[in-house]
Amino acid sequence: CQAGPLAGCRIVVTAGPTHEPLDPVRYLANRSSGQQGFALASALADMGASVTLVSGPVSLPAPAGVMYLACETAREMQALVMGSGPFDVAVCTAAVADWRPEHEAGQKIKKTGGSDTAPAIKLVPNPDILAELSAPGAGRPRLVVGFAAETENVIAHATAKRQRKQCDWIVANDVSPQTGNMGGVNNEVVLITASNVEHWPRMSKADVAKQLAARITDWLSE
Ligand code: C5P
Repeated sequence: CQAGPLAGCRIVVTAGPTHEPLDPVRYLANRSSGQQGFALASALADMGASVTLVSGPVSLPAPAGVMYLACETAREMQALVMGSGPFDVAVCTAAVADWRPEHEAGQKIKKTGGSDTAPAIKLVPNPDILAELSAPGAGRPRLVVGFAAETENVIAHATAKRQRKQCDWIVANDVSPQTGNMGGVNNEVVLITASNVEHWPRMSKADVAKQLAARITDWLSE
């Protein structure tokens, strides 16, 4: 049992991309380094929370002092998150693939019929982990925070996403290539709650994590 302002608080953080296999050697994925989620898990653990970090494939070391659960697909992430609760707080930073190939071929799909043909891939929707965590009902975390990576109309899209998924807060950021936010060490985010839109200055992902951990602590103590 750790000391600190979040001692006794159980928090789940999702991070990284998910990989959705097409065959044993190919997959669909989102771009995500996992840095923001890992930094957040560390910051929350530093404040004494009992943190479960559920991450898709990334090349980052597991942060000290957190329960680290690695997964590959969205459905594996969903099973680990839902099976490890209940949680007081959930923060979903993972870039979950919205769709997966309907069928995973057991063997590598071969090129047949000449070089100008390609297989058609049918996609099916993946579970939305953030929406599932946010749904009202017994066992819902007291605070559910989502992330929204957008390339245009950031505030409008993120605000709509907060309402649609029923999470309490959304941390929105612009991931257009010219911003350098995606994959970079810095981030410029907007914290959207039911009553506020707060622009944070550009800072390191580690500092975004510390500030968000501090905000979560303040909210829990109110
Ligand atoms: O809809 P979109 O992917 O932009 O939503 C982003 C937010 O929803 C992030 O917090 C992400 O972790 C979460 N999400 C999820 N499961 C999905 C898709 C997104 O938890 N299948």
